Amino acid sequence: EKGGYDYFMLKEIAEQPKAVADTLLGRIDASGRLSLDELRIPDAVLRETDKVVIVACGTAFHAGLIAKYAIEHWTRVPCEVELASEFRYRDPILGGRTLVVAISQSGETMDTLMALRHAREQGAKVLAICNTNGSTIPRESDAVLYTHAGPEVAVASTKAFLTQLVACYLVALYLGQVRGTQWGDEIHAVIRDLAKISDEVERVLETMEPVRALARSLADKNTVLFLGRHVGHPVALEGALKLKELAYMHAEGFAAGELKHGPIALIERDLPVVVVVPSPRGRSVLHDKIVSNIQEIRARGARTIVIAEEGDTSVEPYADHLIRIPATPTLLQPLVATVPLQVFACELATARGNEVDQPRNLAKSVTVE
Ligand code: M6R
Repeated sequence: EKGGYDYFMLKEIAEQPKAVADTLLGRIDASGRLSLDELRIPDAVLRETDKVVIVACGTAFHAGLIAKYAIEHWTRVPCEVELASEFRYRDPILGGRTLVVAISQSGETMDTLMALRHAREQGAKVLAICNTNGSTIPRESDAVLYTHAGPEVAVASTKAFLTQLVACYLVALYLGQVRGTQWGDEIHAVIRDLAKISDEVERVLETMEPVRALARSLADKNTVLFLGRHVGHPVALEGALKLKELAYMHAEGFAAGELKHGPIALIERDLPVVVVVPSPRGRSVLHDKIVSNIQEIRARGARTIVIAEEGDTSVEPYADHLIRIPATPTLLQPLVATVPLQVFACELATARGNEVDQPRNLAKSVTVE
């Protein structure tokens, strides 16, 4: 049942190209436009939406953080992302024109379920992004966009995360399409790029041996830090979460722009710091800023583990370890940048003798508060 892999997690990491392709299947028509007929929320309602609020927990929350960048960019509709466990206990300002998006692999997470009930009571429309057919969260929502990752057994979420991202991009692009924003051409181009992304994920998977070797060499470390900015920030948070839950190591993700506001004090000799570098194309200002962050932490002795686009030579002088990912549009980069972090955490867990599929103290779906 593990298909020849030692762990479900390894199998599920390897299944990501297919999971991503399956989640796109049937949702892009022959003319390159999105057709999400399954979304039972009428286009007229989506045109009227004046705010999107995303609620989720854990890894699904990180997918939501990335979705915010995509939604606000392609639709110009304000988007908030909140941990479901926080949202449900405050007085959020929602109304009939608010679209709440609840993201959940299992569809049974108690906090996310309670958050969506809370939202519906106040008249908001709820769209679930979910991997489990017929589970409670989609049943209680106004509409659902299923991710087609297939069953995810390992407690650490991998392929569900990538497909949540794809679903979030689909929602963002579809909202942009029905609302007809200024980004029409870009939306078309990104839909074409999304169609190619499964192959890019496959290419990343083919180059993971050095990442595994690096992970094994760090097995006796206590702390690993992760830095990113823009959509690379949630990727850093996800890399840190994977390492906590699998390797039981102290791991923290930071927005690289915050370094000088505190975290740089943590940098000491030989501390591993993973840095997710944005594309040098597109938002090149951010790219250059993060390259100077890498220089700054390296000057203070950090061991820099740099994830950068193929062809980005500017990082080479400052990277103790360089992990290459294919060039993608900026907003899609998390789909390829997260994969090495999953492999890294899985290999570190193995090297430390941890139970990969069933980390201590954790359950696959958290159906209690
Ligand atoms: O089933 P859900 O997507 O609602 O689960 C949310 C979190 O519990 C889940 O993503 C958790 O953080 C994972 N173990 C992370 O790998």
